[in-house]
Amino acid sequence: MLHGKRSDMVVHEEEPFNAETARGALAEASVTSTAAFFSRNHGAIPRSGPSSWRLSVDGLVDEQLSLSLDELRERFAEREIVATLQCAGNRRQDLLEVREIPGEAPWGPGATGTATWRGVALADVLQAARPQDAAEHVAFVGADVSDEPQPPEAYGASIPRRKAERSEVLLAWEMNGEALPAVHGGPLRAVVPGFIGARSVKWLKRIELRAAPWDGFFQSTAYRLLPPEGEAAPGAGIALGEIALNSDILAPDDDARLSAGAIEVRGYAFAGGERRVVRVDVSLDAGASWAQAELLDDLGRWAWRLWRTELDLEPGSHEIVVRAWDSAAASQPERPGPLWNPKGYVNNAWGRVRVHAET
Ligand code: MTE
Repeated sequence: MLHGKRSDMVVHEEEPFNAETARGALAEASVTSTAAFFSRNHGAIPRSGPSSWRLSVDGLVDEQLSLSLDELRERFAEREIVATLQCAGNRRQDLLEVREIPGEAPWGPGATGTATWRGVALADVLQAARPQDAAEHVAFVGADVSDEPQPPEAYGASIPRRKAERSEVLLAWEMNGEALPAVHGGPLRAVVPGFIGARSVKWLKRIELRAAPWDGFFQSTAYRLLPPEGEAAPGAGIALGEIALNSDILAPDDDARLSAGAIEVRGYAFAGGERRVVRVDVSLDAGASWAQAELLDDLGRWAWRLWRTELDLEPGSHEIVVRAWDSAAASQPERPGPLWNPKGYVNNAWGRVRVHAET
């Protein structure tokens, strides 16, 4: 299979490679295996070995840096975190049922996954570069070139400096205990826990400290939330940042045929930013009554929670729905309709699967 991925991946596009994890595969473990982890690419994967790789840090700094991977390892302390990546287009499929979204892939609930990332803290590297007071944003530039914008440009994105200086933001060269595979940004990528996946720039070649956010296509035009009648244009809408609270059902699969009686229901819930999932509810009667699900492994504040519960199914067809609550007491909207936007980002309506139970 392409890029070492499992054969049960849902492939939206082969070139550039865009594939999500099937529901069942995502339910298997709280840490997603690399072979099952989704991949979202806006251009071809650049080919360049770790030995010739250099990272530059420039812009509003007193000390410009140019570092090889060995120098990064030698100069800064290694850190490891478990963090969930979630694409802003995750669960777009349900928004497409409201209205069409031309040119955007119909991602289901598998454009997310959780991995162990190892590298150095961006904060430590920034400290060595001595950012100037005017530097309010930290931009990442990748080595890949996308032809989605015209003219084509390198993939780039930025995060606010106050996030960049937090210890959880990594420059990572390892994923799940192995060298970061090329499809996930190897040899080096940014990992920005709690923020939309688009800010975790892969094939990281350059870090620029800036007074303003990155003004390239993937920050100024894409990955922004537009009002329903808005049109994507540089600076239109608001830049996405922290991930919205979300949850979905992973097992049973949508449209599954089951035997009536007790069934196990499993899924994920994830609260972005610094919030945490505190409760997950599952309903068989469209929300008239709810059963509280059991939250599984706690992998720390940057990781999702898988959850499970048991339901008793009478013979017939049923819809199972889920909603999560976060530590700010926010929950999810019931329907995707009011969330529809022209690029189809951030669907965090209740998760739903239909199942058919036979005697
Ligand atoms: N970085 C570069 N250089 N090019 C890209 O196309 N895609 C972004 C982000 N970083 C992208 C990138 C998006 S939209 C997401 S959701 C994540 O990478 C996906 O990371 P993954 O492919 O490792 O799952």
